[in-house]
Amino acid sequence: MKLILATNNQGKVKEYRDILTPLGFEVLSQSEAGIHLDVEETGATFAENAYLKAKAIYDIAHCCVLSDDSGLQVTVLGNEPGIYSARYKGLPTEHERRMAILDGLKDKADRSARFVCCVCFIDEGGKEHLFTGIWNGTIAEAESGTNGFGYDPIFVAEDSGGHTTASLPISFKETHSHRAKAVGQLMDYLRSR
Ligand code: IMP
Repeated sequence: MKLILATNNQGKVKEYRDILTPLGFEVLSQSEAGIHLDVEETGATFAENAYLKAKAIYDIAHCCVLSDDSGLQVTVLGNEPGIYSARYKGLPTEHERRMAILDGLKDKADRSARFVCCVCFIDEGGKEHLFTGIWNGTIAEAESGTNGFGYDPIFVAEDSGGHTTASLPISFKETHSHRAKAVGQLMDYLRSR
């Protein structure tokens, strides 16, 4: 069965293709499906944004569609950057966005934070199914590590032994992260339907 991924990000395409092909899906990226859309993420939550991206493609292609939306929530920053994680405070680089979080936490006792990933699967009949993965942790005092991307150099997951995500092997994230948890729920659902 055909499934279109609501992304052209090659990393995500590979990751999802590896997971979904064994379940019988023919996985296409947006551009491989001939769909050239840049959906505005106008939702107020990760779930709404994931749904908006998937629905826009479903309305064109009328086949299975998968999308995701994710980000970092820092408790004392009012759960920011949240859905604005990729463009926090309009800062142009990942390093500057990480430094803005560290600045915002200066003198704060509570450094708790979490990564959230919401995956939206729209089935062949147009019904949406949402799966949310949460990875709890804290924000480190300083950046460390070179693996991963985004906020990985400042995020210390509760199950990481005190290391930032960027200091651990990529394989750790593949099995423990917010994305791994959301995808795990998706897999359980797809296997059971
Ligand atoms: P997207 O939903 O994959 O586009 O991610 C949005 C933004 O959230 C990214 O640009 C990162 O800043 C942040 N983010 C999401 N997942 C992760 C992660 O696993 N590690 C670090 N940053 C992440």
